Amino acid sequence: MGFWYSLLMTLVLVLSSDVPPSIVFTSGGKPQKIISAPDKPTRVFIGDNVSLSWRYYHPNHFTLYEVVFGIWGADLLSTKLVAVNANGFHKIRKGYESKVSWAGNLTSSLAVFVLYNVQPADGKKLYGIHVEYHSHTPLTDGVRLQVEAKHLPSITYVTTPSLLRIGQYVSLNCTASGVSPIHVTWYKGPKVLASGISEAVFALKNIIDEDWGEFLCVAKNFAGEDKKSVILRILPESPKILNTKKKIYDASWTLRWSAVNSEGHRVTSYTVWHRVVHVARDNITREKPWLRENMTGLIYHKELAADTPYMFAVTAWNRWGESLLETDKILFISTDFPDRNSKKTDQTLHTEPETSVMPSSSNKKAVSMSKTEVLYSVPAGILFLLLLVVLASYFIRRKRLRDEENNTSK
Ligand SMILES: *[C@@H]1O[C@H](CO)[C@@H](O)[C@H](O)[C@H]1NC(C)=O
Ligand SMILES: *[C@@H]1O[C@H](CO)[C@@H](O)[C@H](O)[C@H]1NC(C)=O
Ligand SMILES: *[C@@H]1O[C@H](CO)[C@@H](O)[C@H](O)[C@H]1NC(C)=O
Ligand SMILES: *[C@@H]1O[C@H](CO)[C@@H](O)[C@H](O)[C@H]1NC(C)=O
Ligand SMILES: *[C@@H]1O[C@H](CO)[C@@H](O)[C@H](O)[C@H]1NC(C)=O
Repeated sequence: MGFWYSLLMTLVLVLSSDVPPSIVFTSGGKPQKIISAPDKPTRVFIGDNVSLSWRYYHPNHFTLYEVVFGIWGADLLSTKLVAVNANGFHKIRKGYESKVSWAGNLTSSLAVFVLYNVQPADGKKLYGIHVEYHSHTPLTDGVRLQVEAKHLPSITYVTTPSLLRIGQYVSLNCTASGVSPIHVTWYKGPKVLASGISEAVFALKNIIDEDWGEFLCVAKNFAGEDKKSVILRILPESPKILNTKKKIYDASWTLRWSAVNSEGHRVTSYTVWHRVVHVARDNITREKPWLRENMTGLIYHKELAADTPYMFAVTAWNRWGESLLETDKILFISTDFPDRNSKKTDQTLHTEPETSVMPSSSNKKAVSMSKTEVLYSVPAGILFLLLLVVLASYFIRRKRLRDEENNTSK
């Protein structure tokens, strides 16, 4: 067959420079022929696997020798990659075991070869098959691969939202790039919030607590998709103080507030802010620094001092942080009851700066008592000393007079 085959193949290659023809006639009788072949070219993305499949007609009186798959050289199949013999046993060229495999069935006249992990270099080769018979012209066919890069979309920018408070504004932007039109969509769960080509912007104008959670941006084109998610973190609101009375007539007092919900949970951590407001003689109010106490319930007990104005506020905490100390939620109260532990004489001491807002009245009393003692004991001591001096000088004078009398009488 050698000579005739070579002659024929040369003719064939001259006629069709690239791909050998699918139909070859024998000298007489029915032709063997290829019934179906892979697309020419066969499109494949870089990194993908491609299955190349041929179905051929096999005249009954033909005896199959082998089916070969390989790379075409200058004129002939130059590199055999897979050879399948008449019994269906196949052999793969050494070093190509992970690159190519046999997946056909000779009983059904089906030749299938799989190329794995196709690379751009595969696009430069011409792959083909030989279906060889004993003493008959073989069937040949070749195929080129069109190796393409996947034009996967890629999200190039997505907003990273800051820690937010209720009522604030946030714009979630998502921008994607890629070759073909990219549909960009913002989702929250299954719900579509906004979409666009190459960009999607979803604006939340007046954030409410329910807006917390995950937002997903999906960029899609024919080749695939890219996804990025962002988390909206929302701080709680400050609770509403429930006390309504502004004048307090009892030292033992309880602050109450309503529970706050945040990000689907009931808040259990609160901070009570309190401070004394002092009105000086010149009518200028001076506020002492805020004092804070952490609470887990919804009430706070405090022993109030007599005739003292106070400010109270409560903030709530979630896992992200503390609510704002909202000015319109501050409670102003003032006490109106007699000081049980100290006299009105302490009034002068109230104008002096205090280091703490929680001094007990008995302490102030102790300080004033010791001061009074000092006030009285100092002049008394001086008087006593003066009296001693006067008495001493009197007796000295008398003694001197008596001595002078004795001298004159002698
Ligand atoms: C190609 O085939 C191999 C082996 O079957 C498989 O592991 C791999 O995931 C396939 N690659 C693609 C891109 O489908
Ligand atoms: C090959 O094809 C024949 C006929 O269609 C079938 O009987 C046989 O099961 C196939 N063999 C394999 C391995 O698929
Ligand atoms: C997000 O989109 C809004 C509306 O188009 C725009 O005003 C804003 O500047 C964008 N922000 C960023 C960071 O791209
Ligand atoms: C201080 O304020 C009170 C009540 O607001 C007012 O009656 C009084 O005249 C004011 N005193 C001075 C010194 O401004
Ligand atoms: C109250 O709790 C907050 C948050 O858990 C903490 O940062 C703060 O130091 C606490 N303050 C006091 C006075 O315990």
